[in-house]
Amino acid sequence: MIWLGRPEAQERDVLAAAGWDVRVIEEPRGARIGLRGGDRVAALLDLRHADEAWSAAMLDLLAPHSDLPLVILGDADMPPRGCLLQLREPLDLVQIQRLAKIVDGDTRPSVGNGIDCLVGSSTAMLAVHANLHKFAPVELPVLVTGETGTGKELAARALHEMSSRRGRPFIAVNCGALPASLVQAELFGHEKGAFTGAAARRIGLFEAADGGTIFLDEIGDLPLDAQTNLLRVLQEGTIERVGSHHSIHIDVRVVAATHVDLEEAIAHGRFRQDLFYRLDVLRLHMPPLRERGADVELLARHFLAQFREQHRVRARGFDASARRQMHSHRWPGNVRELMNRVRRAAVVSESELIDDQALQLCDGIATGADALGEVRIHAEREAILATLRDSGFNVSECARRLRVSRVTVYRLCKKHQLELEALRV
Ligand SMILES: Nc1ncnc2c1ncn2[C@@H]1O[C@H](COP(=O)(O)OP(=O)(O)OP(=O)(O)O)[C@@H](O)[C@H]1O
Ligand SMILES: [Mg+2]
Repeated sequence: MIWLGRPEAQERDVLAAAGWDVRVIEEPRGARIGLRGGDRVAALLDLRHADEAWSAAMLDLLAPHSDLPLVILGDADMPPRGCLLQLREPLDLVQIQRLAKIVDGDTRPSVGNGIDCLVGSSTAMLAVHANLHKFAPVELPVLVTGETGTGKELAARALHEMSSRRGRPFIAVNCGALPASLVQAELFGHEKGAFTGAAARRIGLFEAADGGTIFLDEIGDLPLDAQTNLLRVLQEGTIERVGSHHSIHIDVRVVAATHVDLEEAIAHGRFRQDLFYRLDVLRLHMPPLRERGADVELLARHFLAQFREQHRVRARGFDASARRQMHSHRWPGNVRELMNRVRRAAVVSESELIDDQALQLCDGIATGADALGEVRIHAEREAILATLRDSGFNVSECARRLRVSRVTVYRLCKKHQLELEALRV
């Protein structure tokens, strides 16, 4: 982006977060607009501090580049020819995304819209966006960290969509849900007769993801022997199917996620340190919702709009009491919790504006898991067990009832030493 004028620091941040390099030309005198072939470039003429002579000189500077997408920021009575967009201040992320779409359509193929689904323009989310732009084109493993429901999987998908691997497979694996005895065969495949029940050769998830990205969710739950094999994939780019000593070359980018502190798992001997260093090359931290400020409302509006596209509901906004409650709630379940609250409120609300009653955020119930005392932990175990029973030990159903992800159900089972296999019989 060639910025003719003076960007504010915040605007620079927003642009950087959206993946733009900014070159500033403050004074037209002696300046030159040099363009390199293949770059996606747009010019932004910032008229907010401009006088007539300055504007005229800048327009002269732009004149030989009439094919350069031009955006005007501020007031212009007569936008110059070739001006695609006129923006009023402040320049925010939404407008930058609009701009990117116009420029992409204009000059070069889109880099994928994966990032569009990650709603948020708080400082914390701008940092996530900036990192996604930096990490996507690099062929290195990424470790995504963050509490439950913060969008780890969504970010991993966005990363894939933004990388040159888009169009190739994206395979998400929940390491905590793979039965320990089958982890190796599931991940790396097996030969016919490799073990009882292996009636035919079967390729594993890594081979299925060849050319694309494999998302290893809850990597902390991967058994140690599978960790050793994963290390080899990362070091040598090869796998061996169970029952074979033949190495198969594969080209897969590994993105792993964890909600547990892997360093602590290393200290307890549950996680290989060398694997950790291989995975933790690029770290993407998803901030909890309570650190995202005004994003809470932005997301709530987004989820309501999304819900309204598919359902006829009366609710079309939030009143002041609902907004107040949203901001004061601690959001232990993060974005997923917010999404479910909004959907529920949209259904029950009898007025056009959802109020605090409909939102029903009772902080007495929903405090952070870290605040759970002994009694609460016991109650948590009872609650999960009861819900599992009521759901016929079907994890998906249980997750739906508790409004958590399947991963969380597996995690809770592990935490409370509830053996699903044993309970089912
Ligand atoms: N920034 C966001 N914008 C829009 N939707 C979001 C955002 N973050 C998360 N979501 C939505 O919230 C839900 C939870 O996200 P996701 O499954 O990626 O979280 P997670 O961190 O992987 O959770 P868990 O630790 O429980 O597996 C999904 O439905 C996702 O689409
Ligand atoms: Mg997840």
